[in-house]
Amino acid sequence: MVQINRGGNVPPPPPARRVPLIAGNWKMNLTVDESLALIDEMLEDLDAYEEVETVICPPFIALFPAMELVEDSGIKLGAQNMFYKDSGAYTGEISPLMLREVCDYVILGHSERRLYFNENDEDINLKVKAALKDDLTPIIAVGENLAQREDNLTAEIISNQVEIALNDVNAYDASSVVIAYEPLWAIGTGQAASAETANEVCKFIRQTIVRLYDQSVADRVRIQYGGSVNPANISDFMCESDIDGALVGGASLKAADFVKIVARTQECIPRKKK
Ligand code: 13P
Repeated sequence: MVQINRGGNVPPPPPARRVPLIAGNWKMNLTVDESLALIDEMLEDLDAYEEVETVICPPFIALFPAMELVEDSGIKLGAQNMFYKDSGAYTGEISPLMLREVCDYVILGHSERRLYFNENDEDINLKVKAALKDDLTPIIAVGENLAQREDNLTAEIISNQVEIALNDVNAYDASSVVIAYEPLWAIGTGQAASAETANEVCKFIRQTIVRLYDQSVADRVRIQYGGSVNPANISDFMCESDIDGALVGGASLKAADFVKIVARTQECIPRKKK
């Protein structure tokens, strides 16, 4: 039974505009040396785009040395997953307490975690609450597969995923999360959703937040699109009203492409549709 928690301190008033958030999800790619070299290659260029919040999510073991590299820049780090306990006999897992020493964000509920590691919405909810407790900002990934889209189940799947992920999360905490809409059929396929389709679902996610909490929480939550984002299509997404950023896979592994994605995101700020 999902519990809506409208308690907690009243969140501060929504900002005049949401700061766009571009996050590079490197998945299981690159050694530590390669990771540091890639960050080094793009750091200065990325740092020039101050109106975009840029997050790099390398493999766990690269986070610690990367921290020193990004220290004097505006670039932030994120993890790609975590367990929901702070410590204990959980061989092979990593905790929010450990991660918060080295990063600000954590991707939770990515479809590859759901698909290959059997994570369900309840696990993701435990992780979301644990991340928030330890001051990490969760990037909660949601999305439907192709069969679900073709059966017109997108809204039902997405609202369930969002609602369960935020079960028992209070309004204050909920206003700080990031939600990434990543339709499975668009991930790694080169077949991105159209900007209109992506915006329609991102808008639906915002309405779901209004239903669970209220408009002021929904106005603060940043909602990203992810799935075959590249320098050629990022502007289409970023000009849409309800898309506040992107979760980028393959293109985040190429310095020039990732820098272009961040640059075009900044260019779209004045052109954003209402
Ligand atoms: P691609 O950008 O490679 O399609 O991956 C998207 C993704 O899964 C980001 O989390």
